[in-house]
Amino acid sequence: MGAQFGDEGKGKITDFLAAGARYIVRTGGGPNAGHSIHLAEGQVVLHQLACGVLRHGVVGMSGPGMVIEPTKLETEMQELEQRGLLRGQVVLSDRAHVLLPVHRLEDAWEDELRAKKNPNAGLGTTRQGIGPAYADRSGRFGIRLGDLARPARLREALELLYATKAHVPNLPPIDQLATELAEVGGRLAPLIRQTEPILWDAIARHETILLEGAQSALLDVDFGTYPFVTSSHPTSAGALVGSGIPPTEVDEVIGITKAYTTRVGAGPFPTEDTGERGEFLRRVGGERGATTGRPRRCGWLDLVLLRYAARLNGFTGFAVSKVDILGGLEEIPVCTQYLMPDGSTIRDVIPSQADDLAQAQPVYETLPGWPEFHQRLKDRVRREGASALPSTLRRYLDRIVEETGVPVQYVGYGADREETVTIPPPSGHVHRASLTPWTG
Ligand code: IMP
Repeated sequence: MGAQFGDEGKGKITDFLAAGARYIVRTGGGPNAGHSIHLAEGQVVLHQLACGVLRHGVVGMSGPGMVIEPTKLETEMQELEQRGLLRGQVVLSDRAHVLLPVHRLEDAWEDELRAKKNPNAGLGTTRQGIGPAYADRSGRFGIRLGDLARPARLREALELLYATKAHVPNLPPIDQLATELAEVGGRLAPLIRQTEPILWDAIARHETILLEGAQSALLDVDFGTYPFVTSSHPTSAGALVGSGIPPTEVDEVIGITKAYTTRVGAGPFPTEDTGERGEFLRRVGGERGATTGRPRRCGWLDLVLLRYAARLNGFTGFAVSKVDILGGLEEIPVCTQYLMPDGSTIRDVIPSQADDLAQAQPVYETLPGWPEFHQRLKDRVRREGASALPSTLRRYLDRIVEETGVPVQYVGYGADREETVTIPPPSGHVHRASLTPWTG
């Protein structure tokens, strides 16, 4: 699960963990996500497919919690196939909702409406139609992948849906849309299945299932920085609803965080650095949206957000990505608490109002930096493991553990698939953040 505002490197870490899994399930979101993975054959960005599709013998499942744009999904599969990278099996949930052109048009219409009322109120969505598609799901006007093979049901559902969209300009004619959907549905039909019993049977056979979250805790529709959020639940609880797996079957919850923080789109971001150093992070970290190409806003590690995400998700471990980007900095600021306008401090529970979070002044602790991750250091870490990580980096990771109560289990020190190192646990004991007494 993403522990910040998205783009933490979920694709890379999921791919790393995928080696031991039989099923990998995307549990929410849709083409708003862009999970980048660097293979020997080049870079891959997955939007609607789970990263299991890149590995032989693995099932990559697009789960019931997703909103899927079927034509784009087909293109994503074709592009992987042409590059010889579609190696796993693709399975699509018949319960996943279909993202339609009307949703994309409505997304743009809504964001413009907000901005017209108040220039600061635009959300900066990815304009993929995510919000309207989830709204139609909740309103029970949605169309699901399983409907595509039922022409009468599809036609009736489209007519009802269109009756609710008189405000949306330039809708494609229903006839044309119904025909296109039936065609793409026909081509995808062999992949569309009822997925939850497949997973229940896998659990009964003790096979490993990995749930691949998209977006992140602070973008959760309820617990994120509302209304600057996505319209799904990118938290561990949401991953269960989005797959049909019961909470009692979960062994581990890995929170993925960058060694610093980024955000795309509007909304509060306490540790944002709009100066030269933020620009440094953007340039060196290659911080542009994998889906939209928008430059990401950049800032420093925020331990208040991480503590909050850890409690919300019940993280049993962290994966910290992109530590190499900070390599060579003399000192690194880390936010340990917020100072609020009334003089109070906040350490672990962010305010539920975005306006209040926007007022938070980060209080920084300065930690010593570590050397650049030149090739020799990377080779040593690859050979010798975590013991070869620079001591100041170990100190930085220890601070995350001390401040959150959650062990750091994986560290990403480069974009390549192999550039992730596992940190052995101090004991066999699995720590649960939700059971830790919180100071603050
Ligand atoms: P939506 O999901 O397109 O509705 O966008 C809502 C907010 O979530 C916007 O601020 C987006 O930039 C952000 N967002 C959505 N998906 C991602 C993602 O995969 N990574 C980072 N930000 C995202």
